Parts: sequence; C-alpha cells; structure tokens
Amino acid sequence: MGNCGTREESAVVANAQVQQLPIRSINSDKRYNRSFSDLSDPSTPSHIEDSRKNSVFDTVIAFTLFELETITKSFRNDYILGEGGFGTVYKGYIDENVRVGLKSLPVAVKVLNKQGLQGHREWLTEVNFLGQLRHPNLVKLIGYCCEDDHRLLVYEFMFRGSLENHLFRKAAVPLSWATRMMIALGAAKGLAFLHNAERPVIYRDFKTSNILLDSDYAAKLSDFGLAKAGPQGDETHVSTRVMGTYGYAAPEYVMTGHLTARSDVYSFGVVLLELLTGRKSVDKTRPSKEQSLVDWARPKLNDKRKLLQIIDPRLEDQYPVKAAQKACSLAYYCLSQNPKARPLMSDVVETLEPLQSSGAGEVLTKVHTSLGLPEQRIHRRFAGNVAGCRSPNPNCSPGPAACRVR
Ligand SMILES: Nc1ncnc2c1ncn2[C@@H]1O[C@H](COP(=O)(O)OP(=O)(O)OP(=O)(O)O)[C@@H](O)[C@H]1O
Ligand SMILES: [Mg+2]
Repeated sequence: MGNCGTREESAVVANAQVQQLPIRSINSDKRYNRSFSDLSDPSTPSHIEDSRKNSVFDTVIAFTLFELETITKSFRNDYILGEGGFGTVYKGYIDENVRVGLKSLPVAVKVLNKQGLQGHREWLTEVNFLGQLRHPNLVKLIGYCCEDDHRLLVYEFMFRGSLENHLFRKAAVPLSWATRMMIALGAAKGLAFLHNAERPVIYRDFKTSNILLDSDYAAKLSDFGLAKAGPQGDETHVSTRVMGTYGYAAPEYVMTGHLTARSDVYSFGVVLLELLTGRKSVDKTRPSKEQSLVDWARPKLNDKRKLLQIIDPRLEDQYPVKAAQKACSLAYYCLSQNPKARPLMSDVVETLEPLQSSGAGEVLTKVHTSLGLPEQRIHRRFAGNVAGCRSPNPNCSPGPAACRVR
C-alpha cells in the first residue's frame, strides 16, 4: 500500500487548507467546464485509516499499481476513454490472469492527477461514498489503488460513456425522446436514493458528464469526489465552500455556501433542461442572451405557447406534446430560485415515471390545431401513458410538479 495517507500527508493537508483553488471561469474549452473544488472542507476525510474503520474497504478490491498498469497496457493512449478535471480514464479488463479469483469484467480506471491534497481528498471521498453505496443507478466502484502518491479508482465499465457525449457531440446520433426520459428517470432515481439514504448524501456535482450510460442506455451516476453527508438532526443545511460546476450549481449555494439536497434538485433541473433542449448549460458560442441555458429557457418553461419552441430541434418533432409539457413544468419547478419551492427528488421520480414510453418503435402523429400549432401529437402507446394529477387538492393545477411542490 505504499505510504498512502501518512501523518506527513495530513500535515500537508493542514497547510493546504489556507489555499483556495481559483474558481475557473466559464469557457467553451471542455477543460473549463469541469468541477471546481476547494481543499479546505473539514468534513472530507483526509486520512485513509478513517475509511478503513468504516469497513468501506471490505467491499472494494485493493489493486496494485502493477496490476492496473497491466490491464491498461501501461496506460496506453489508445486505452483512454476520456479526460476530466481530475484525471484521465482508461479502459481495462480484469480477470484471472490479473489475479486469481477475479471475475472477468471490463473496467474503467481513473488515474487522478497528482494534485497533492486535492486529488487525495477527492479520491478518498469517492472511495468512502461509492464503496458503501450500492444502487442500480450508481456506478459500481470495483476497486482502488493507493501506492505512494498514485491514486486510482476502478469502476464498472459503462459501455456508452457519458450522457454529455451523446447529447452534445456533433457526430453523435441524437437520443430519442424515450431514451432521454429514461435517462432522466434513472438519474433521478440515483439522486433520490442518495437523498433518502439512512445517512443522506448530497451529490453536489450532478451534470451530464457525470451521468454514464450502459449498453441499454440505463443511467448511472459517477464521480463522488465532491459528495457530502447531508445535514443531521436540526440542521437545515451544511456549510461548505462552494464546489461543483458552473452552470449546474444552485444559485443560493453559490451565494452562501449553504448546501442542501435541494441544491442537487436544481442541478437536476439544469440536466433535464439540457435533455429537453439539446443545449449545454453554458455555451459561449451562442448569442449573449442564450449563453446561460437557465436564463434563456426558464421564462419559456411555464408559458404553454412558448415551451415547445425550446425542445431540441434534433428530435424533429418526434415527441409526445403532453409529456414534453409535463417535463418542462418539472424542470421549471426544479429550477425555482427559492430552494423550498423545488420538489424532492422522490417527487421528481414520481413525476417522470408516467412519462416513460413503453418501448421502442414509437410512431408519433401530429394533429394540428386551427392555429397551425402542433398542439397534440398522439403516440399510440403513449396516449394513455401520461399521468394526471394525483393530488387530493381540487384546486391543484394540472402540472404534476406543481401538485407536489406546494
Ligand atoms: N465507468 C466508466 N465507464 C466508461 N467511461 C467512463 C467511465 N468513467 C468515466 N468515463 C469516461 O471518461 C470521461 C471523463 O470522466 P471524468 O469523470 O474524469 O471527467 P468529467 O466527468 O468529464 O469531468 P469532471 O472532472 O468535472 O468530473 C467521461 O466523460 C466518460 O466518457
Ligand atoms: Mg466526471
């Protein structure tokens, strides 16, 4: 295990606490749309022994650096799956040849940049949370490596990579409406699971690059380096330095550093909006009024006449209008300026469930109104699939999110 988490390193931790990482400005360069982080969060474990006491390390495999070098062919360039703010991700394959007793499995190996304390903390937070949490909508942490100053993480391999690539890469085949709604539901379930855990967890870095897709487009959350234990007892929030990603972080959290589960709900609203519009949360290549997706889209989300204008043109009108309206209404409430007006993630799951298509091969038929607007598109399977309001309140407005928010 080398000198992983030594006392000396803890001293480095203490010294580094006075540093604040420069918060990166928004830039169309992919590297600048990465998580921003800080080194001085006292609740983040800084010592690997703390984690061992929690027996987190019983459920994940401790790999040697040599084993991970072997499976990535010494971290060969053509094994690179992607690159983030904190390191490079490589493809690998573990089996009996790597170590006797290992199940054959494709994996993704993340090599954290050697950024001293920051890299170590992110790494340890991730091992702590992801090592303990198991859910179909969370990426499985298979193992880790901690040798000298090397910090690596080994995840289950997600065949289709990140949602970000599918949604925004020009060459990518556009995701269908049904797939988008399925991804939204899967990701919402992942967040709801975290928020409703016995010791609730705030994810804090919900964004399209952290939503990974398996071969069936099932969504799983990855990257728990910024996750944080939720408030306990009478506490209403957790106070932290601001960490997250521009364009996704909730405004009150950026302003005050007060973190609640509702901050994740806001970020979910941004991702839902990205799924609906096919636009990035921040896009410096667009005209100035359209660069911030939330500023541009939010006023249109509760305007029935305008909301369909924002739906991704790459869908070529192949979506059920009522479901789109409900999804827009949900995004609107998730993006409320007032955190208390945002729905809980469990409400979001309930709202998205009836918007799921029952299968592939959808055929949508446009029915035009006298105004010539595509007011209703009827999908044979979809028509009866959109849930009505289940609120007992007779005055409740028809939008499902509206029913639950108040
Ligand atoms: N388990 C995995 N399976 C398959 N591909 C993965 C896996 N984990 C990561 N990747 C790929 O590697 C890319 C980089 O991931 P990484 O989490 O390092 O960066 P990011 O999410 O793009 O940015 P950030 O540093 O802000 O999290 C992802 O976008 C994805 O394409
Ligand atoms: Mg990531």
